[in-house]
Amino acid sequence: FRIPEPRNEPVLSYAPGTPERTALKKRLDELSARELEIPLVIGGREVRTGRMAEVRVPHRHAQRLARCHQAGPAEVQAAIEAAAQARRTWAAMDPHDRAAIFLKAADLLAGPWRQTLNAATMLGQSKTPYQAEIDAACEIVDFWRWNPHFMERIHADQPVSPPGQWNRAEYRPLEGFVFAVTPFNFTSIAANLPTAPALMGNTVVWKPASSAVYSAWYVLKLLEAAGLPPGVVNFVPGPGRQVGDPALASPELAGLHFTGSTAVFQGMWRAIGEGLSRYRGYPRIVGETGGKDFVFVHPSAEVDATAVALVRGAFEYQGQKCSAASRAYVPESLWPQVRDRILAMIAEIRVGEVEDFSTFMGAVIDRAAFDSVRKYIGIARDSSQAKILAGGRSDDTKGFFIEPTLIETVNPRFKLMEEEIFGPVLTVYVYADIRLDEAAELCASTSPYGLTGAVFARDRDAIADLTRRFVDAAGNFYVNDKPTGAVVGQQPFGGARASGTNDKAGSMGNLLRWVSMRAIKETF
Ligand code: SER
Repeated sequence: FRIPEPRNEPVLSYAPGTPERTALKKRLDELSARELEIPLVIGGREVRTGRMAEVRVPHRHAQRLARCHQAGPAEVQAAIEAAAQARRTWAAMDPHDRAAIFLKAADLLAGPWRQTLNAATMLGQSKTPYQAEIDAACEIVDFWRWNPHFMERIHADQPVSPPGQWNRAEYRPLEGFVFAVTPFNFTSIAANLPTAPALMGNTVVWKPASSAVYSAWYVLKLLEAAGLPPGVVNFVPGPGRQVGDPALASPELAGLHFTGSTAVFQGMWRAIGEGLSRYRGYPRIVGETGGKDFVFVHPSAEVDATAVALVRGAFEYQGQKCSAASRAYVPESLWPQVRDRILAMIAEIRVGEVEDFSTFMGAVIDRAAFDSVRKYIGIARDSSQAKILAGGRSDDTKGFFIEPTLIETVNPRFKLMEEEIFGPVLTVYVYADIRLDEAAELCASTSPYGLTGAVFARDRDAIADLTRRFVDAAGNFYVNDKPTGAVVGQQPFGGARASGTNDKAGSMGNLLRWVSMRAIKETF
């Protein structure tokens, strides 16, 4: 038997009068009306530590969504033991039976659970209905439909057998547990990082981001509703070091599946390296971290498409995508037109509560993010090398709101052209058309990251030339499109250099990291 051929989940429109809009509004009201108490879940049992953290609505911080029990070393140890216990039956299960659970979860999410995860993502992470739909509904459904398909292709890859022999490859799970550490900015990443290793037969200890525990909780509940057995994914939210240190120190650690900041990832890699002798094997390390994603505009580019891509790439979800466009290189021959088009669009952008369907940008995730983005805007304000052309203001009275901010700099190595900001700030360097080569060279080499990048050009030779020049600068490279919004099965996602191990999410390559092959030769 075969896994059904995956198809990408269609994005619903949420236009006025549509059933999805009515259903989403109802679910938002229901979730907003009650405060949750979120426990840990270890071996299928709810655990309450009494050490509490709060989850608030970023765009309405007076509203508390949940109080969340916090794990510490003892609970992490219990989660590791529960994972070991569950592994005995889970690893031995027919891979198709494991896949069935995720295919069912995908169907539940595409249907009755859709507005629960969308509403939770809107309230907990301040996503607009569209941003929630492409993340918490469509992308998760896609991961859970495509990953079983990739799993099947992996299992189908078998060695040849000459007469008198039967050679076979067995793709067994890693020996130990996988530690999944997930970020706040995509519910889909939170759903994929624990479940991709689980699909391949591993059991998992999952630490969701403290600022996104709310939607993570609903992901867990959905997986339970689809029949995921106890102990396969153990849910241990808590402070980074309190959870991370004991997990990495465990001799049972077999893998780390991480998305988050470069500094934290590098710290975890170091901790694993330094403690290498304690593990049974070499833990698999898969990480996706920061980006300083670029848009390079060629003089042959189409102005309108370029401006739209810059605005959407830089400001959708408040610029808090690791793939967000945050530095642009524009030729002076096109800049006046591109700039005016961007300014006109920025003037139309509504920043506010995401429950209002005309909002384009909600709030940034929390006070720390708000302060950090403001600091970068302040650097531009105080510098003679930069000019703020639009935005720059912020207001935290009700929520953590920052205006979409457009900055022009005369220094291609200005701090805001080099460092990841993770907020709605786009910095532009205008180059002289005759110095295009130099500008492209700067663009390719300015940043230590290599996550996403885009070029805009109509000239076919220029497209070929720039695609070649940026070969190492972006793991996801877009020609005449914004650098955000990779779709599972269409654009496998991940970056190299300081951006991560480039084990593309939503690809066979990622799933291969969660198995260890045994080659069996039998002689007849
Ligand atoms: N996959 C997302 C994007 O492409 C980022 O994580 O925008």
